[in-house]
Amino acid sequence: MKVAIGSDHAGYKIKDDIKEVMDELNIQYEDVGCNCSDSVDYPDYALPVAEKVANGEVDRGILICGTGIGMSITANKVQGVRCALVHDLFTAKVTRLHNDSNVLAMGERIIGPGLAKEIAKVWLETEFEGGRHERRVGKIKEYESKA
Ligand code: RB5
Repeated sequence: MKVAIGSDHAGYKIKDDIKEVMDELNIQYEDVGCNCSDSVDYPDYALPVAEKVANGEVDRGILICGTGIGMSITANKVQGVRCALVHDLFTAKVTRLHNDSNVLAMGERIIGPGLAKEIAKVWLETEFEGGRHERRVGKIKEYESKA
């Protein structure tokens, strides 16, 4: 699995923590930035990550900003992206099982590094359940293909 990861200035610290998790899991990743506390605009990082997922350059994406909201709104504008905003372990697992989410968004101002790392680990390690969920995700894809 290959992952693209990005953040704005309000999420770059947790981005580094999540890169540690991916190192431990032997997951290859591409960091699109940013890498310091200078103020930047979250769409400039959400869109490259989302586009890499949509065009198949990577399998999944991870995005962190202050709340995760701006990143998730932006990523979900890209056709083929199903970005889940997650701040707990239950939804981290279920959004993979049921929604086949291919981008994970989190907020560094909402949760600490310990929980963020656990969420990333669960999300990266959980496979899509398929079955009835395949039909539901298929309806999202069908709608997108008409847009
Ligand atoms: C930056 O101040 C903040 O607005 C951004 O990180 C994010 O929370 C937006 O949704």
